[in-house]
Amino acid sequence: MIRLLFIILAASLLASCQPVETTSEKPYKWLIPDDFPRPIAIPYNEMSNAKVTLGRFLFYDKNMSVNQSQSCASCHQQQYAFAERRSVSKGATGQKHRRNAPALVNIAYNKTLTWAHDGLTSIERQVLIPLFSESPVELGATGNEQKILSRFNTNKYKEMTEQAFATEQLDFDLIVKALSSFTRSLISLNSPFDRYAYAMDDTALSKSALRGMDLFFSERLECHHCHGGFNFTQSTTHQRQLLDLRPFHNTGLYNTAGDFSYPAIDTGLFEVTGNKQDVGRFRAPTLRNIGLTAPYMHDGSMGDLSQVIDFYAAAGRSISSGENAGDGRLNPLKSQFIKGFVLNRQEKNDLINFLLTLTDSQFITNPQHSNPFKE
Ligand code: HEC
Ligand code: HEC
Repeated sequence: MIRLLFIILAASLLASCQPVETTSEKPYKWLIPDDFPRPIAIPYNEMSNAKVTLGRFLFYDKNMSVNQSQSCASCHQQQYAFAERRSVSKGATGQKHRRNAPALVNIAYNKTLTWAHDGLTSIERQVLIPLFSESPVELGATGNEQKILSRFNTNKYKEMTEQAFATEQLDFDLIVKALSSFTRSLISLNSPFDRYAYAMDDTALSKSALRGMDLFFSERLECHHCHGGFNFTQSTTHQRQLLDLRPFHNTGLYNTAGDFSYPAIDTGLFEVTGNKQDVGRFRAPTLRNIGLTAPYMHDGSMGDLSQVIDFYAAAGRSISSGENAGDGRLNPLKSQFIKGFVLNRQEKNDLINFLLTLTDSQFITNPQHSNPFKE
């Protein structure tokens, strides 16, 4: 029954396939099956093979940080679906970020970027943050632009820049375009779940995972309300998008004392909108490759999937001591879909087994996405 829904979804999207125009000689080919919708094209930065190639080198090049200690890939590691093992990130100069580095999975489809921002809709704008932010410093380019650019004055980079942009002269505008193109190319649609739901391979999922899938899509658990669609997040947009859902929710992770019910270090969407109803609202992220991207949540405060499921079953998290003490289950701004449920041990296992079928092993070993300096 559930598969029928996926098939209808895929079929209704069939009409959306349009050739993607590129400026390079060989048109860019998305790593997307033919019957899937294409991401919305970016007129000022169309995809091309040469931009993706240049972007890949830049993504992995530690020369991109002020002290040559970090690249994008330091926090976004391919083996973890471009997330990292730390609960919160650490920048090039050692400053701690307050948030967990999200996986970079199908970002080309994301309607909004980062954990909690309803106005940040373009990767080109988002990429400026790790490059230039000063609080915290991530790559630390601010004030060091010329120093950093001079490191890319090599024949190899000149050649790649020429191919991508018809000029040898790399600058931050082109760096951002190339990095955004590479980030967009990180498509993961080849998990066992995809083989079952879209490639009609009945053997792709175990019986346990199939039972877990039924639970995931049940009204009892409600997971699919916020992690729905082919990308398992409401924050999806593409060329045939029909629904426009607001993907931000307060899930009852906290209920601290004080002015706001969330820790002052991060009140989520409220910081952007100033609307008190938005305190504690964060984006429901994609669950693709979720088995690889622990720790979980915007602050990396949950270690494994078992803990995450217990949290949803309890309808929130109660913290008994410390500065974040409080009963998240009672957070007045909590989403009505976080209502709790009871799972027996087998059902919990089934749900975890289903979530693990969203792991795309080709994605994390694909040489097109890997570190070019290690070839
Ligand atoms: C110091 C670690 C660190 C570095 C270096 C870093 N990032 Fe990130 N990245 C993060 C964190 C943390 C977030 C979440 C930010 C937030 O929610 O406010 C993030 C978010 C993102 C997002 C948004 C993903 C989404 O799902 O919305 C993209 C895209 C991204 N980074 C790409 C890059 C690129 C490209 C680079 C290199 C220029 C880079 N990052 C460098 C830690 C890092
Ligand atoms: C009301 C909407 C909503 C429902 C229902 C929901 N989630 Fe979530 N989910 C979210 C949001 C929002 C986050 C991020 C919360 C944060 O970091 O503050 C999240 C985070 C997660 C994460 C961690 C993701 C990561 O990359 O760190 C997992 C795993 C997860 N949810 C699984 C589930 C499962 C399984 C269910 C069903 C039992 C479920 N969710 C139900 C909204 C929802």
